[in-house]
Amino acid sequence: MLTLLETTTMEERPMTQPPTFAAPTARAEPTAAPVAPSVKMQTEALCAWFGKNKVLQGISLPILEKRVTALIGPSGCGKSTFIRCLNRLHEVIPGAKMDGRVLLDNEDVYVRGMDPVGLRRRVGMVFQRPNPFPTLSIRDNVLAGWKLAGLRPKDPDTLVEKALNQAALWNEVKDSLNRNGASLSGGQQQRLCIARALALEPEVLLMDEPCSALDPIATAKVEELIHELGQKYTIVIVTHSMQQAARVSHHTAFLYMGDLVEYNATDALFTRPADRRTEDYITGRFG
Ligand SMILES: Nc1ncnc2c1ncn2[C@@H]1O[C@H](COP(=O)(O)OP(=O)(O)O)[C@@H](O)[C@H]1O
Ligand SMILES: [Mg+2]
Repeated sequence: MLTLLETTTMEERPMTQPPTFAAPTARAEPTAAPVAPSVKMQTEALCAWFGKNKVLQGISLPILEKRVTALIGPSGCGKSTFIRCLNRLHEVIPGAKMDGRVLLDNEDVYVRGMDPVGLRRRVGMVFQRPNPFPTLSIRDNVLAGWKLAGLRPKDPDTLVEKALNQAALWNEVKDSLNRNGASLSGGQQQRLCIARALALEPEVLLMDEPCSALDPIATAKVEELIHELGQKYTIVIVTHSMQQAARVSHHTAFLYMGDLVEYNATDALFTRPADRRTEDYITGRFG
């Protein structure tokens, strides 16, 4: 059976510091207040288990709208588990449990009556290894999410072109849409998977180490794409590369042993970490 489960700012004020205000001057001109991004998703005391093994210890994290949030931390600290709780992919693993709340537009996604399949259309996912359906054409790969949902887009050709354009792949494949998805290079396959996710017009895009299987040139292309998509979409990216987090994200969360140690504007987190563990990690003392 086809399944997408295994296929598929810098300007803001840091959370960890109190806001600072400039002393008002006697004749201050009124200035337009910067538009603060709104919170698209939010976790509250999110805990997760595999059997008896508790791997998330109560994580409360905002995910800002139309911003890129990076999750960093040593292997095994719970990054993948965290994002899989956001679109309810964690619960499909036998013995897996969660507690706490995950809000999308202020609505609890674990509330009774919430359809996980509908949720996963709103909160799409791109996995570590590019996983296009090997027997499907490029075109059908882009439309695969719709097919799996039992839906037919009104104008599939326009949708395919738009999604491939958004994934910065259109120019490379427009003359060979009927070619097999598996015939593309690794980097192109990952952009095809991004196109497949975007074709469902998600509100949030989760990416779990999307470049870890790519060579440096393909990585640079995908990073550029993520940076661009971050203007229109709410993106959460797991990465083991601090350089990548610095290049693509507005905010960064550092997770360690299932806990959120620090969350801040990316720039601030990397230059002025507030917690010793963050500092040790970003300076390469462990991880
Ligand atoms: N399917 C699973 N079954 C049991 N334990 C798991 C499973 N997936 C992950 N874990 C455990 O959960 C913890 C967090 O893993 P994970 O979220 O994959 O971390 P990360 O993505 O940061 O490397 C680790 O201790 C890992 O061994
Ligand atoms: Mg992982």
